[in-house]
Amino acid sequence: MSNQKRVPVIAGNWKMYKNVNETRDFFRALPDSVRSCTDPMVVICPPFTDLHSAKENMGGSTLQLGAQNMHWQDEGAFTGEISPLMLRDIGCSHVLIGHSERRQYFGETDGTVNRKTLAALQWQLIPIVCVGEKLEEREAKLTDNVVIVQVQRALLNISKELIATIIFAYEPVWAIGTGKTCDSAEANRVCGIIRETVAMMSDKETAEQVRILYGGSVKPDSIKEQMSQPHIDGALVGGASLDPKSFSAIVNFR
Ligand code: PGA
Repeated sequence: MSNQKRVPVIAGNWKMYKNVNETRDFFRALPDSVRSCTDPMVVICPPFTDLHSAKENMGGSTLQLGAQNMHWQDEGAFTGEISPLMLRDIGCSHVLIGHSERRQYFGETDGTVNRKTLAALQWQLIPIVCVGEKLEEREAKLTDNVVIVQVQRALLNISKELIATIIFAYEPVWAIGTGKTCDSAEANRVCGIIRETVAMMSDKETAEQVRILYGGSVKPDSIKEQMSQPHIDGALVGGASLDPKSFSAIVNFR
């Protein structure tokens, strides 16, 4: 299958790390090669409390700002939640949806993932929808089934035109933060299944436009091989995105 012009994406997921000063220091330490990069497109997803500082310190760069989660409603009595409009207002262009840590610890389901994906698209935020199997599911040879169902349910009631703009991240849960990277050929195989599922929910042309990232212990020394795989269009990077040096090395994978 041809890798048409899908501009790769490298997204950093800071999780619950860094305060406002550390955020400023991170951006100051990024070299121009990263600050002005357009291929790959670079997205940084700090905690909510750092979004403002990140936006200020990204000024004049091509870097994109993403959030790590959001509610699906525009506003309302939802104590502790953040809406898509608030994310737009603070300067976000992207939002992570359904990260496995949200599914595992905060009760996110395929249903909430679908509602959030719809809401993000409605407000022109690009959703980075995370899917992936747990270790016991892989051992029981359920990987393909789990990922297919997660993708199908995430895409319910979404038009082809909007599906084309979604970014998926395949993150095998057992590879996240463990140092155990999924073998590149296997990651590529599962990303191919995600693309086939997207095609079933839309059409082949749409599926060819969708970017599919790999995530799970991505490091400077693994990125090149991962990026050489035809179905892998980028990376969602956790631990290695916190250090400007390792993150820059990943962005400059070529
Ligand atoms: P990791 O995290 O790179 O630290 O494994 C990836 C993620 O959770 O998105």
